[in-house]
Amino acid sequence: MDFRIKDFDEYLSTYQKSVEQPGEFWAEIAGQFLWRKPWDKVLEWNFRDPDVKWFQNGKLNITENCLDRHARNTPDKVAFYWEPNDTNNRALTITYGQLLAEVNKTANMLKANGISKGDRVCLYLPMIPELAYTVLACARIGAVHSVVFAGFSARSLADRIIDGGCRMVITSDELLRGPKVVGLKSIVDEALEECSTVECCIVYQRTGADVHMGEKDLWWHEAIQGMSEECEAVEMDSEDTLFILYTSGSTGKPKGVLHTCGGYMVYTAYTFTNVFQYKEGDIYWCTADVGWITGHSYIVYGPLLCGATSVIYEGTPTHPDPGRVWEIVDKYKVSIFYTAPTAIRALEACDISYVRKHDLSSLQTLGTVGEPINEEAWEWYDQEIGGGRCPIVDTWWQTETGGIMISALSGITKLKPTFATLPLPGIQPSIVDDEGVEIQGNGVEGNLCIKFPWPGMIRTTYGDHERCRLNYFDRFKDLYFTGDGCRRDEDGYYRITGRVDDVINVSGHRFGTAEIEDAIDEHEVTVESAVVGFPHEIKAQGICAFVICHPHDLEEDELKAEISDTVRRIIGAIATPDKIFLVDGLPKTRSGKIMRRILRKIASGEKEGMGDISTLLDPSVVDGIVEKAGL
Ligand code: WT7
Repeated sequence: MDFRIKDFDEYLSTYQKSVEQPGEFWAEIAGQFLWRKPWDKVLEWNFRDPDVKWFQNGKLNITENCLDRHARNTPDKVAFYWEPNDTNNRALTITYGQLLAEVNKTANMLKANGISKGDRVCLYLPMIPELAYTVLACARIGAVHSVVFAGFSARSLADRIIDGGCRMVITSDELLRGPKVVGLKSIVDEALEECSTVECCIVYQRTGADVHMGEKDLWWHEAIQGMSEECEAVEMDSEDTLFILYTSGSTGKPKGVLHTCGGYMVYTAYTFTNVFQYKEGDIYWCTADVGWITGHSYIVYGPLLCGATSVIYEGTPTHPDPGRVWEIVDKYKVSIFYTAPTAIRALEACDISYVRKHDLSSLQTLGTVGEPINEEAWEWYDQEIGGGRCPIVDTWWQTETGGIMISALSGITKLKPTFATLPLPGIQPSIVDDEGVEIQGNGVEGNLCIKFPWPGMIRTTYGDHERCRLNYFDRFKDLYFTGDGCRRDEDGYYRITGRVDDVINVSGHRFGTAEIEDAIDEHEVTVESAVVGFPHEIKAQGICAFVICHPHDLEEDELKAEISDTVRRIIGAIATPDKIFLVDGLPKTRSGKIMRRILRKIASGEKEGMGDISTLLDPSVVDGIVEKAGL
């Protein structure tokens, strides 16, 4: 495939073409993939319904593009180096030839257990090669994967299985993440008590722990016995569903963002190649988990579509010591390294000797994603990791966008620390004021929207199209609304300033404040709660909960611990509140709306500058909260 932009002039002309002739532009790129049958029409769309179709009536299977092409041309090329959590476990090397065989065996195992095109399969797995195999095996046979990050609780898992109507779950006995061992199978057992649609659960043996195996449970190593290494890929329509992936919004429960085959394929490969300036011979490592969109688009699909060699790492960056991540870069001679600001800050907080004892000279491009990166972390990343010679691509995008939207192209776009810089070809950002009026020109700030479709965009939210419309296409007419605020500076460079809705970003993970409040409210003693984010040194934002309780005889600390446990049980440990304040009242307006800006101030330790509080039903509650917060 040949669509890598080579210099800044080419970026400018490509961008211009992508806006003036989007159909021709994307058709030229899409034409470089393997299609069983070409499309009739490149694009049909409206943002009212919304209804977006790319490469209409084109037929393909994404795994033929990810696997067969490379297995045929370069069977011995390494697709994945798998690095285990524990250094005394054996690392694995998986070539494209082997990967195709493993995916086919896995696909045959799914088929043998009743899965066919259109069925939903839930994957709740550690970062092991089998996670990639099962993702691709689903795609091979047209089943829809729904990966759930293996840090979510039984309840969150059950909610997602039920919403997706999954017929199968694939998990492992246990998961190893840094020093922690998590009993995944027992979490699945608890979740499945509520899930009537699941007919079969396949369990991969990761640690060999003794786990309960019930009637519906099968061991992976038994179920895969005798499966053929060949499996015909099922022909898919360009707009058939490829996967669903749950993410949090400002209201209600997490929703299943739905992506389709053709557009997602074209978009992830195009963006992977251009942003990272991927070239033959690069060794690429993205530290995300396949449980998030970054792992879907830039561990599995994007790199494989381009025939890249990637590292997959099972564990945490600092296990068994803070040098692990740099040891892995050195070991595999990683040239492109993609991680999150929260990881950068956590690593920066460790002794610099952990960095310096490893040879990082193989690095050529550094990437960041998940949240706005602060200047200090940017400088550290640039100097200490990149040695001042590696471009940093700050990639802005979302689960809903499928792939990177605003980012520098490595070595091509002039950088500005903390700026995502410029839109990729095909992406037409629009900054609008709160009334939806586009703010033209440079040196402006407002709500970030996108005014024209791109192939990787969300098509719907699973089972509830109206929710998709309301969430993304209703706030501003004829625009996709991102939920982010953004500044465009004098040079036309974009800087994402963070969410403008009730979504908080904790270590690059999204939570709706309402979702956490609902969890807190399940504790029997709580009456009502309000959750806000506050600036956190490592995690970007911390979670702060203000909780009103019924009379109770618990000690304050005991009750707070119980509230924390409730959130962990209902959502998962990643949503554990950092601060809990037990208060007597919440700052509500006369219409009953909580004035969150006041709580955000207090949560960040400030008691001045609350602004106008005269519209509160009872302004005196503010003093009470300030006092409870110890300010
Ligand atoms: C939200 C999307 C996209 C993969 C990881 C997160 C924030 C993401 C950046 C960036 C500033 C960023 C936004 C966005 N975000 N990347 N480079 N600079 N903010 O995916 O869970 O769907 O979250 O993450 O607020 O809306 P996600």
